[in-house]
Amino acid sequence: MSFPKNFLWGGATAAHQAEGAYLEDGKGVSTCDVVHGGKGRLAEFADAKAIRANIDNPQGYFPEHEAVDFYHRYREDIALFAEMGFKVFRTSIAWSRIFPNGDDAQPNEAGLAFYDSLFDECLKHGIKPLVTLSHWEMAINLTKKYNGWESRELIPLFERYAKTVFARYKGKVKYWLTFNEINMTFHVPFLGSGMIVDDPAEKEELCYRACHNQLVASALAVKACREIDPDAKIGCMVASLVAYPYSSRPEDTWAKLELERKNYCLTDVQALGVYPAWLKKYFARNNIDLKAGADDEKILRENTVDFVAFSYYSTSAVSTDPEVAGNKGIGNIFGGIKNPGLKSSEWGWQIDPLGLRIALNFTYNRYRKPLFVVENGLGAKDVVEADGSINDDYRIEYLREHIKAMKTAVEVDGVELWGYTTWGCIDFISASTGEMSKRYGFIYVDRDDEGKGTLARSRKKSFYWYKGVIESNGEQL
Ligand code: BG6
Repeated sequence: MSFPKNFLWGGATAAHQAEGAYLEDGKGVSTCDVVHGGKGRLAEFADAKAIRANIDNPQGYFPEHEAVDFYHRYREDIALFAEMGFKVFRTSIAWSRIFPNGDDAQPNEAGLAFYDSLFDECLKHGIKPLVTLSHWEMAINLTKKYNGWESRELIPLFERYAKTVFARYKGKVKYWLTFNEINMTFHVPFLGSGMIVDDPAEKEELCYRACHNQLVASALAVKACREIDPDAKIGCMVASLVAYPYSSRPEDTWAKLELERKNYCLTDVQALGVYPAWLKKYFARNNIDLKAGADDEKILRENTVDFVAFSYYSTSAVSTDPEVAGNKGIGNIFGGIKNPGLKSSEWGWQIDPLGLRIALNFTYNRYRKPLFVVENGLGAKDVVEADGSINDDYRIEYLREHIKAMKTAVEVDGVELWGYTTWGCIDFISASTGEMSKRYGFIYVDRDDEGKGTLARSRKKSFYWYKGVIESNGEQL
């Protein structure tokens, strides 16, 4: 068998994309509750005025408010995950359910109780929870008061939140992640850091500062986790980046290296305990002031993660040649260009299974720590046939080829991989577009881009296929 016997197969969600119930049981309004859905969502994220208007005077449809109502339907959904044979279920805790304003004196008991029941339900079915502390969500109050992670004030607030949930779920949750795709702040600061950037000229410095504050908070969470539950494992999470030099020109390979080293610079700190040398030079040369604390270096050095988790969807190419450099793939927020050799999804994400083997090798060889693929999947439109069936062969094809690549990385390349959670094991709100029609799930949810539908769940063809994959520990693809 190529996958280890205890390999953790499962699926992944995030609180804000699935739960809904955005004001229920004391939850506070969070950053993701103030962004509209639709193709213009990424532009709205980047528009300081629009975000402020949404906060002060919310008008229109905000898809995360109801999402797919996982908050009330988690028992039914987890039973379906169990039917597929999940060993692990990745989700996140909405920080704003536990601390509705982020800086409340006491945690919200109803929020804590919700996750107790959710994790108990998983454990009842033999499913291990893998929990992200922060998946693009926090009390909007923290944006209003501190401009999110721009401020160091968030570090102790996050540490207190982390300690609260570690103590509460000790024994129930054995796998933790600190920040989802920590590198996303570079691309979408409001999403990654709850930070509004008014002056584009300040963006770079503010992003590095916000990320630094998250790195310190992440390290303090690692420390607290080890103290509170020494049996638990805690990891970091990065949006992986594989970009190919467009040509064999040395400049293109250098451009790839530059893109890559920036993408992994935060994970370098989380896994290795220090900032890379090039970045220290870059900070000095560009007068980037992190406003770091006196103990930060020590905290970062002493509290590196147990494992490295990443998301993997697609790859791109890099060129310094002005003739091709403008040829951006749609849906590509990493800065590369379209690779002419690859097919794309309906949303322009280029499909590249071998890229996953490359990402696994690259990450393992860089950090020498166990890995976890915590997101991978195809966002696609599904058609419900007259008999109610959903024949998502394209999704099966995508996942099959990626699992094959993963298998080779384990079997041939010797990568230590703990598990695999496909993204959106159940359909829910897309993070980048707010659409429902960009579906990733094995389970179809009857809801459309305007929020209409019964929210009824049904099994897609891929549901039965994935069940077979898990049953055979990845042998039957
Ligand atoms: C990852 C995020 O970047 O990609 C998820 O961690 C997100 O939250 C996923 O949903 C897929 O992106 P999208 O925009 O298709 O939902």
